Amino acid sequence: MQKIVNKISSSLKGTITIPADKSISHRAVMFSSLAKGKSIIKNFSKGQDPLSSLKVCQALGINAEFNGNLTITSDSKLSAPTSNLDCGNSGTTMRLMSGILASRDFSSVLIGDESLSKRPMKRVIEPLSLMGAEIISNDFKAPLKINGKNLHPINYTSKLASAQVKSCILLAGLNTDGKTSFTEPHISRNHTEIMLKYMGANISITENTELEPKTIEICGDISSAAYFIVAGLIVPNSKIILTNVGLNPTRTGILEVAKKMGANIEILDEKIVSGEVVGDIQISYSNLKSCTIEGDIIPRLIDELPVIAVLATQAEGTTIVKDAQDLRNKESDRIKAVVTELRKLGADIEETPDGFIINGKTSLNGDCEVETYHDHRLAMSLYVAGLICKKTISINGFEWVDISFPEFDKLFNSLIQ
Ligand code: S3P
Repeated sequence: MQKIVNKISSSLKGTITIPADKSISHRAVMFSSLAKGKSIIKNFSKGQDPLSSLKVCQALGINAEFNGNLTITSDSKLSAPTSNLDCGNSGTTMRLMSGILASRDFSSVLIGDESLSKRPMKRVIEPLSLMGAEIISNDFKAPLKINGKNLHPINYTSKLASAQVKSCILLAGLNTDGKTSFTEPHISRNHTEIMLKYMGANISITENTELEPKTIEICGDISSAAYFIVAGLIVPNSKIILTNVGLNPTRTGILEVAKKMGANIEILDEKIVSGEVVGDIQISYSNLKSCTIEGDIIPRLIDELPVIAVLATQAEGTTIVKDAQDLRNKESDRIKAVVTELRKLGADIEETPDGFIINGKTSLNGDCEVETYHDHRLAMSLYVAGLICKKTISINGFEWVDISFPEFDKLFNSLIQ
């Protein structure tokens, strides 16, 4: 689908509620499937990725009913699937489910779409194999045939700061006797640790642990809020409020960076919902200056870097993003894709092996077609850039937005004055 985006002639104004967090939705459905009894998930994401996790859990025998909320009923055991388990486009589904399936008493095969079948799985196959798992892959890529085994615990030190790898190992450890530990170079998102604790797990995971069924209320996704945060900062005269946004400190790197760049952002109300910090964010149009983004903060804003690149085109000076080489292993090579497409719009941006360098402030011209590389975050970042281009842009493959944020366009339209 091609999406035409025009420059906003006025501004963005109003209050919107940000839809459910994708990462937390995946975990809510998977962990509820591991708990014996009835769990209730409030505000489950409508994105295709979390729905892939739900379908995989259903194929493993759990019962799911939508009646406003999502009710999951499980005997906690999971049963052998009768066909391949389709993870669609979702890396989180494939990597977390690998950890869950490796210790079961049956075999299963995880498959994915063209993009997911190209993404690296060695990062989970290697540590799971150290635990005794038997996984047959296509040169460390999907499909993954997992022959369930009794696993043994490990103390694993990861070279990557990846919440998917960490979660995979913790989930394998959950069903394994003995103490499993995972050490990461920088802290990555910790929704797994928070939700496992909320469901009664001994998170130092010293023994085979059972989860309790719970009511889990899912907050709004800061990665979805990011497009509105950036748009509010760069579209002149804008003032918007985003409600019910997850503010887990392992995800709020974008707020820290934006503030460092001079953004006028305020947190209005903070509370804890199902173990997670949640609040409202007020954003006003701001004069921005460049900054360097590197090191520890990278895992805390990894998914926001494409739209942060758009932000940096509107900041005075040179913004440098480094230490983000894993961006090349996402739904697309996001370093190459962002640089190629923003250049078409007139941005002064240069590719580096582990990030990009952007010279601002540039007035974006547009008047061209841009590509999404089958990547939802590229599609939404380019849309935000389109709002300030002098001339119309056409985004090819805009339907990929549905992977995480089907409500995206409607919510933007509700803010355009
Ligand atoms: C995710 C972790 C991150 C992130 C992805 C979702 C998760 O990936 O990029 O969109 O839900 O655990 P990595 O763990 O590969 O960094």
